[in-house]
Amino acid sequence: MKEKIDVLLSEIENDIKNVSNIKDLNELKVKYLGKKGVITILQSGIKEAIDKKEYGMFVNKAKTFFNESFDNRLNELETIELNKKLESENIDISLPSTKIPIGSANILENIIEEVEEVFMSMGYDVVDGPEVEEDKYNFELLNIPKGHPARDAQDTFYIEDENILLRSQTSPVQARTMLSAGGDKPIRMICPGKTYRRDQDDATHSHQFMQIEGLLVDKNISLSDLKGTFDVIAKKLFGENCETRFRPSYYQFTEPSVETDISCFVCKGKGCSLCKNTGWITVSGAGMVHPNVLKNCGYDPNVWSGFAFGFGAERLAMLKYGINDIRTFYQTDLRESKYFDRRDV
Ligand code: DAH
Repeated sequence: MKEKIDVLLSEIENDIKNVSNIKDLNELKVKYLGKKGVITILQSGIKEAIDKKEYGMFVNKAKTFFNESFDNRLNELETIELNKKLESENIDISLPSTKIPIGSANILENIIEEVEEVFMSMGYDVVDGPEVEEDKYNFELLNIPKGHPARDAQDTFYIEDENILLRSQTSPVQARTMLSAGGDKPIRMICPGKTYRRDQDDATHSHQFMQIEGLLVDKNISLSDLKGTFDVIAKKLFGENCETRFRPSYYQFTEPSVETDISCFVCKGKGCSLCKNTGWITVSGAGMVHPNVLKNCGYDPNVWSGFAFGFGAERLAMLKYGINDIRTFYQTDLRESKYFDRRDV
């Protein structure tokens, strides 16, 4: 029996050594362990064996030997086949890779972030408001009743009926903020966001643009607080030498109302094409919150006072980056963003 088994083991060893691929190896499994396999037949011979224990041990030895040899060879063959595959599919790592553009922050976002940082350092919250707005917030609470001629300049896009619209200004967020504050707390907030008007697009008009609204409500606030605040902002955004001035203006929700100007940073006030030879550049509308607006929004105008302002974000960006066409911001030309990318990639 022992000799018989030794012959079998060397036969198995040879067979396994001689196969050169996994398919042939698997055939050996059939040959030895299949239904009519050599070892299987041997195993069923146990019934007739004289020394069953010894017989069983030998058969098991053959089986274990086959299984171990099979597994080892399978590993070897798998490695060989994998290497062959890798060789045939090899990648030329010396080829330059395809550059994937990583994108950059939008110029307007940059400006807005800059303004937010300055205001936050002065204790202002940055708040949000809906772009689809009710007429009530966009106009009525702001002292612009239906039929008021001031609505003409702010014609916008209406949704479903005349009371739901795309906001024509970020000023409705003033009303929303005051109403949710409840009429008894001071407020300091700015709200950057998209606004819409029924304008024909040209170099200085866009049917969609961005404003940065600001509102401060407290006790004993005067125009000089607005001037001081504007002065700090202008210097932070346009440099320490920037001077500021107010010109009288008219808005329905502020009284008095002003246009805020900064000294021209190109000609330093001497006069150039940017400032149309005036030495000054207008950057926002502003004023003291109208008593009617305070009242409409739950604040007693005999106790509370405040100021508000509204910057055009594109205008700030155009001034700061020397861009002369507002459409630049909305044409999604990647070269523009790349050119103005702060990260210098
Ligand atoms: N909402 C005004 C506009 O779109 C801008 C503005 C002016 C906002 C004066 C203000 C303000 O808060 O006080 O033309």
